[in-house]
Amino acid sequence: MALVLITGGTGTLGRQVADRVRRSGDEVRILSRHPAKPGAPREPGVQRFVGDLATGRGIAEAVTGVDVIAHCAGGPKDDEALTRTLVAAAKKAGAPHIVSVSVVGADRVPMRSRIDRTLFGYFAMKLATERVVRQSGLPWTVLRASQFFELIETVAGALSKSPVVPTFRGLKFQPVDVQTVADRMAELIRGEPAGLVPEVAGPVVADMAVFVRDYLQVKGKRRALVPIPLPGAAAHAIAAGAITAPDQAVGRQTWVEYLTTARGPR
Ligand SMILES: NC(=O)c1ccc[n+]([C@@H]2O[C@H](COP(=O)([O-])OP(=O)(O)OC[C@H]3O[C@@H](n4cnc5c(N)ncnc54)[C@H](OP(=O)(O)O)[C@@H]3O)[C@@H](O)[C@H]2O)c1
Repeated sequence: MALVLITGGTGTLGRQVADRVRRSGDEVRILSRHPAKPGAPREPGVQRFVGDLATGRGIAEAVTGVDVIAHCAGGPKDDEALTRTLVAAAKKAGAPHIVSVSVVGADRVPMRSRIDRTLFGYFAMKLATERVVRQSGLPWTVLRASQFFELIETVAGALSKSPVVPTFRGLKFQPVDVQTVADRMAELIRGEPAGLVPEVAGPVVADMAVFVRDYLQVKGKRRALVPIPLPGAAAHAIAAGAITAPDQAVGRQTWVEYLTTARGPR
């Protein structure tokens, strides 16, 4: 039985990964900045450690004695710095295998201008984070996943609050169900360190407008879609498919299935 620390174990991906690791019989330690809510049910085989990768508080304790770290914590910025803190603590704790999640196309989105960095700096940040993991001296595995349906739903929901919905003209996405990503993470956690492994993406590559239109239809909303061209080399690359992986279309669920399926603990 291995002891697996899951950073971001309260997040969209991390919750699913924690569930799979626990069900496979390994011991799960979840890192969160917040203690469990009073009265929240305690799952056998799951411990919660309170710590913050931004400040380092509680991280040495969280990594002590673990065999594997599934690094699912992250945010829109500071990913690289959070990962440096994690890696530094892990090295002192005996060099566990780190399995980290990145984004499809992290190395295929060019950053030639301020516009590229402003609009799509996330991809450069994830690439820098990958580098931290790769150069950490820890045994490592990195899985690149495309956008989760949850993210597309959040974006489509926010955009469709307005009667006129802007969509970024020509940008290609291939979103994936988080279950598929979590399944792959669970396999990698059980396996040997494998370096950069094949990407994971959903069954359909399409323009952003297609996903937004499906969303509006399923939600029964009528909105005008206005395609907006985005400038810059990064947008150009994304329109050419840089953040898609058609050869790795392994996601089982379609976007419309996701939208029409009752959500709940899975
Ligand atoms: N969402 C996507 O479409 C997508 C696609 C490809 C790759 N990814 C990558 O997958 C990973 C997980 O994404 P997600 O969408 O599941 O994230 P999420 O739902 O936003 O959850 C983020 C997690 O990070 C934790 N976290 C944030 N800041 C932290 C800090 N300073 N210290 C400790 N923990 C911290 C949060 O824990 P607490 O709030 O409990 O502290 C939370 O569990 C990220 O690395 C992301 O870049 C995401």
